[in-house]
Amino acid sequence: MKEKILIRIKNLERHYKSGEGIVRALDNVSFEIKKGEFVAVMGASGSGKTTMLRILGLMDFPTKGEYSVQGLNVEELPEEERTYYRLTQLGYVFQDYALMNEMSALENVYVLSLMEGKSKKEAIATAKEALNKVGLGDKGNRIPDELSGGEKQRVAVARAIAKKPMILFADEPCANLDTHTSEQVLEVFKILNEKFGQTIVMVTHEPWHTKYVSRIINLKDGKIVSDKRRRNGFN
Ligand SMILES: Nc1ncnc2c1ncn2[C@@H]1O[C@H](COP(=O)(O)OP(=O)(O)OP(=O)(O)O)[C@@H](O)[C@H]1O
Ligand SMILES: [Mg+2]
Repeated sequence: MKEKILIRIKNLERHYKSGEGIVRALDNVSFEIKKGEFVAVMGASGSGKTTMLRILGLMDFPTKGEYSVQGLNVEELPEEERTYYRLTQLGYVFQDYALMNEMSALENVYVLSLMEGKSKKEAIATAKEALNKVGLGDKGNRIPDELSGGEKQRVAVARAIAKKPMILFADEPCANLDTHTSEQVLEVFKILNEKFGQTIVMVTHEPWHTKYVSRIINLKDGKIVSDKRRRNGFN
């Protein structure tokens, strides 16, 4: 089967104006991401990881360069279509789980689907399926305060995947978790990727996280310094 390219960026740049001049947060970056890849974006603090994720996730605009997603030229997308695409096709997980405390885990997962116009019955069914996928099928009634950090993050993952996004983006999803709970979250990502074919782009600092992924892109000062796919290991 022909491999399907979901994301294609070419000569991408993102400059920020700062007191001293211009920061090239992304400097001539090009790559493609295929359907089914689990990509780790790594690099030191300030190397441009979040900047890259925000552009790929349609939360920010590049200063220069080309970006197409599923063959659509992002630059040419009208704002409304861009927003619609972001809401329906892309999922996000951040460091702080951003759950609503007065709502149960299940409600946290289905509230967005309700806002998108799904019936309550359909929204609940989808949310339950997503909670099952992250291993929390039995904890849907708990509020976030009654869950561990790792469980909260898995609820956030369930919320992100409930709409069955084409790509799941995660910016340091384990930054606030200890090793053991990080493993549980990464294990969930791995299952989503391997069993359900979920394409994932995850920013991380931790070298040990790379054992879960299929590809590692390393950034330094806004440039790609290495890009390796797993064959038998990353050598
Ligand atoms: N809004 C902004 N205005 C000015 N400079 C910015 C802004 N956001 C990021 N930068 C700069 O761009 C560069 C890349 O930042 P970015 O947040 O992408 O790094 P990062 O790799 O995610 O770092 P960390 O690991 O600390 O999260 C840094 O030099 C940063 O100071
Ligand atoms: Mg960052």
